[in-house]
Amino acid sequence: MTLQAFALLAAAALVRGETPTKVPRDAPRGAAAWEAAHSSAAAALGKLSQQDKINIVTGVGWNKGPCVGNTPAISSINYPQLCLQDGPLGVRFGSSITAFTPGIQAASTWDVDLIRQRGEYMGAEFKGCGIHVQLGPVAGPLGKVPQGGRNWEGFGVDPYLTGIAMAETIEGIQSAGVQATAKHYILNEQELNRETMSSNVDDRTLHELYLWPFADAVHSNVASVMCSYNKINGTWACENDRVLNVILKQELGFPGYVMSDWNAQHSTDDAANHGMDMTMPGSDFNGGTILWGPQLDSAVNSGRVPKSRLDDMVERILAAWYLLGQDSNYPAINIGANVQGNHKENVRAVARDGIVLLKNDDGILPLKKPAKLALIGSAAVVNPQGLNSCQDQGCNKGALGMGWGSGAVNYPYFVAPYDALKARAQEDGTTVSLHNSDSTSGVANVASDADAAIVVITADSGEGYITVEGAAGDRLNLDPWHNGNELVKAVAAANKNTIVVVHSVGPIILETILATEGVKAIVWAGLPSQENGNALVDILYGLASPSGKLVYTIAKREQDYGTAVVRGDDTFPEGLFVDYRHFDKENIEPRYEFGFGLSYTNFTYADLELTSTATAGPATGETIPGGAADLWEEVATVTATITNSGGVDGAEVAQLYLTLPSSAPATPPKQLRGFAKLKLAAGASGTATFSLRRRDLSYWDTGRGQWVVPEGEFGVSVGASSRDIRLTGSFRV
Ligand SMILES: *[C@@H]1O[C@H](CO)[C@@H](O)[C@H](O)[C@H]1NC(C)=O
Ligand SMILES: *[C@@H]1O[C@H](CO)[C@@H](O)[C@H](O)[C@H]1NC(C)=O
Repeated sequence: MTLQAFALLAAAALVRGETPTKVPRDAPRGAAAWEAAHSSAAAALGKLSQQDKINIVTGVGWNKGPCVGNTPAISSINYPQLCLQDGPLGVRFGSSITAFTPGIQAASTWDVDLIRQRGEYMGAEFKGCGIHVQLGPVAGPLGKVPQGGRNWEGFGVDPYLTGIAMAETIEGIQSAGVQATAKHYILNEQELNRETMSSNVDDRTLHELYLWPFADAVHSNVASVMCSYNKINGTWACENDRVLNVILKQELGFPGYVMSDWNAQHSTDDAANHGMDMTMPGSDFNGGTILWGPQLDSAVNSGRVPKSRLDDMVERILAAWYLLGQDSNYPAINIGANVQGNHKENVRAVARDGIVLLKNDDGILPLKKPAKLALIGSAAVVNPQGLNSCQDQGCNKGALGMGWGSGAVNYPYFVAPYDALKARAQEDGTTVSLHNSDSTSGVANVASDADAAIVVITADSGEGYITVEGAAGDRLNLDPWHNGNELVKAVAAANKNTIVVVHSVGPIILETILATEGVKAIVWAGLPSQENGNALVDILYGLASPSGKLVYTIAKREQDYGTAVVRGDDTFPEGLFVDYRHFDKENIEPRYEFGFGLSYTNFTYADLELTSTATAGPATGETIPGGAADLWEEVATVTATITNSGGVDGAEVAQLYLTLPSSAPATPPKQLRGFAKLKLAAGASGTATFSLRRRDLSYWDTGRGQWVVPEGEFGVSVGASSRDIRLTGSFRV
């Protein structure tokens, strides 16, 4: 599609005065669907020998099948060789697949329709490859440690936003007939020592931050949950009775199965008796140690693991297979299938609408047919050693589209900033001069006579089994890589119209760059995957107005976050006070706050209206997938009128933050409990509707072991970010 055609389509999507999205969405909920699936599974159990059952719960071993995880076929019930494949942004090792945008970019759009479509398209690709189980999406790490290596795989540091994104993604994937896996459960917040450390967190923080998005996943009928590598209170996650049996299966009413992360199992009996249902990949990475298979068989025969427990594992696994309708007409496994369809359109839209404009002095953006542009940085071009030359994207060479590790995929193609800019420049007769390295020498020559100089810098991270430029997964600090600050200074010294583009896995400290005279704009372009350059050009040229908002805080100093990579065990001393909850409590001025993002237009907020039928006290409903049923009931509605008062079409993410009454024990000053993205043509108004569920008004009462709506006055703040509050109101419960 040409850029003009794309712009026309984007403009056509702007519906004057209409609210395109409503959050949270009333999704199909399925206790009944699970019941039918469990009946089918229970019926199938009768046809299985004990050996069949052992086979269904035990992977065939590392590197022994077509997928990263495999279990053997069981012919008596037409059960296939089950294929489980990475990862959260597409089919790992696929050859004709789409490299979808990472979760962090999807979240940055705050657009539930794009997030849902991303899930649907990913599901279609996994199904097209005959894969039964997609190993994603990611709600853990949540991202409490800004340097955390795998934060980019998830949806940002707020549990409410992550929960909505988990629900939309899972419902999207599963609507295509593929089992989704919510991972990594739970409290695995860093790469360093992830396979030895213990995460010890109090019960309230566990519920209100880390468990919250997993409850959304269960409520959306996620088929599977993956237990993580770490210990919790000294007990491995994959044999932790409280975490698996008590919290996940009883409290959240999870009807599906728990699979281990790869080689995260440490015992035969405890794993079985404490809630794990499937071991992956079935052996250690040398193929030597096998903890289930024959070991589980003897444990069952000797009564150490009850037969009923083995039956329960199998019933859960088969129920998920029936739930997704995978027992009829499922495609054969073919990871090499061409499944791309038109899915790159979603990649481009998410890459573009996840871009956050941080600074735009003198209206330097959008660009207005400049005669000459300079483009600077190694990240302006495709990795000169080859697009996929680094295994699992384990390097930071050339343009950045995703972090590294098992959550990465090979790119089918890659449009780098220079590729897209060159194409666009040709249309306008603009000259583009390129300096495709991070060395400052020679920069002045390229930058000095241009109308504007665009400099691209990066920060990367990934999974700890690969070390990149000294970073074993987690980032070493929050500075841009490759001396990005020095590169920006050199460019800005030569050109007073410098535009800084940041491709990054998470926050970096921007103080040096902001203190550099000549830096007029900062475009926070995140992780745009294969559509990197196209998305950037869409924003630089105003084909779309920027509409992304930060899903984490950008601090002035690294130590301002109050959390960092921990050596030894993590006792979570910060409790609930993570990211903006911490900055608000401690009165620390962030550089750019959670939820921040500029636009090429302006929005005004008016007419706050609130209604509530909420009653104080604990949730007492029957347990459905996700917890007590009444937690999910809408008990309050807030509306506001948003008007595009500026000169161009755009979209605004209106955000609702709730302040609990003082009768609730020490609670963060404000917590995100609603958002709505409104696409509004210039001059148009729309209504943002925020539906608050009982859980959104509740805190976790540790003494009672229940979610409780406190009595008193609830403060409502609606605004353009967590600190740019435009309307306030309150209601009493
Ligand atoms: C971990 O231990 C703390 C302190 O005893 C307790 O409050 C918490 O509930 C425990 N968490 C789990 C998951 O066992
Ligand atoms: C937005 O409002 C500011 C003043 O508040 C004004 O300077 C600017 O021109 C407006 N932008 C647009 C695109 O209307």
